[in-house]
Amino acid sequence: MPAIVLVGAQWGDEGKGKATDLLGSSVDYVVKFNGGNNAGHTVVIDGETYALHLLPSGILTPGVVPVIGNGVVVDLGVLFEEIDALEARGVDTSALVVSANAHLLPPYNRSLDKVVERFLGSRRIGTTGRGVGPTYADKMSRVGLRVQDLFDEKILRQKVEGALVQKNQLLVKVYNRRAVTVDEIVDELMGYADRLRPMVADTSLLLAKAIDEGANVVLEGGQATLLDVDHGTYPFVTSSNPTSGGACTGAGIPPTRIDRVVTVMKAYTTRVGEGPFPTELTNEDGVRLRKDGGEFGTTTGRPRRCGWLDAVVGRFAVRVNGTTDFVLTKLDVLTGWDQVPVCVAYDVDGVRHDEMPMTQTDFHHATPIYEYLEGWDEDISGARSLAELPAAARRYVEAVQELCGAPISAVGVGAGRESIIAVRDLIG
Ligand code: IMP
Repeated sequence: MPAIVLVGAQWGDEGKGKATDLLGSSVDYVVKFNGGNNAGHTVVIDGETYALHLLPSGILTPGVVPVIGNGVVVDLGVLFEEIDALEARGVDTSALVVSANAHLLPPYNRSLDKVVERFLGSRRIGTTGRGVGPTYADKMSRVGLRVQDLFDEKILRQKVEGALVQKNQLLVKVYNRRAVTVDEIVDELMGYADRLRPMVADTSLLLAKAIDEGANVVLEGGQATLLDVDHGTYPFVTSSNPTSGGACTGAGIPPTRIDRVVTVMKAYTTRVGEGPFPTELTNEDGVRLRKDGGEFGTTTGRPRRCGWLDAVVGRFAVRVNGTTDFVLTKLDVLTGWDQVPVCVAYDVDGVRHDEMPMTQTDFHHATPIYEYLEGWDEDISGARSLAELPAAARRYVEAVQELCGAPISAVGVGAGRESIIAVRDLIG
């Protein structure tokens, strides 16, 4: 069985951790292929809540090898904080493997992320402020630092010196911050080198061998389709490629090895940060969705913007990712509405659009055209098959599947690991 890609369909926080959980014991490797500690997975196991930012969610499943791929940016302080916190709760993290090619997120990029946002004022992106954007910018500008540089202090020092020529100019002259010294950066990073060394590997080679041997490999995207730097709502996006193509570059696995693309979609829509969001509810209904869904950021605690499901976005996610399966999450949050609207197309300045508009200007002008589906009142959290859902909830699932154009293979009906309807296997 080759690799399975797992990505988010909307603007993130779809509940990807839950889908990874569903794959459970049949998975051998879980690879994080993009992003950094801007992500936030909440996983609930036996009533215990685990909030993960940098570590792949597979870290919580015994027997799984969690891998941080080359496409990830790693804040080493955060990595070891998360490892220590999990170990303190009895979770064994010793199987973690980190790519030698992953980029390091140096402290000056954290400062820059925050100060740049402040300077942007009303044009800010609403980043998580973790330094992720500046670190990807450094990677593309070829002034980044990589995990493997920790094993050659001379090279690391040269690279830090090179980077600081620009960074200190920016920090001091543009943003009025204090300059940082080569020594403080090198000392901080080298402080982690010995502890990190045993975890570091050529993860592309490791995964290729694992796939050859028939292992089940899950490539897990941070963020989501519409936050993709190429395909999302640019510039209100993250700085990496969370779509299925990014799984190949971010893990070093070719497209020909990928067998399934599982796309996780929430039964409604949320977004954190700035940027267009056609189905956003800025009224009491939005407040109700936020409350019912507990929609506050795992990483920043920010209240998430909430709105109805957008099937135009769903279709776009299918197209860009090559979705073979949807996992529809949080259906239980929609319990108790008389009607549940689903956006089926946009009206853009009087013209109907069934697909994502070509330009951001049009997307900013898009107003949703809704189809109103019948609501349900019954508690659905105990349902373990589609047949156990009230007829209206079942119809909602069917309508979403039809409108978005890919089969729904699982439906989340509650927060716990077990609160899921498995329609068909995601592996096999
Ligand atoms: P950055 O990734 O911190 O640069 O933030 C860029 C945009 O992506 C902002 O709108 C963030 O709110 C959003 N973002 C980043 N990570 C996540 C996530 O895990 N879930 C949802 N939104 C995210």
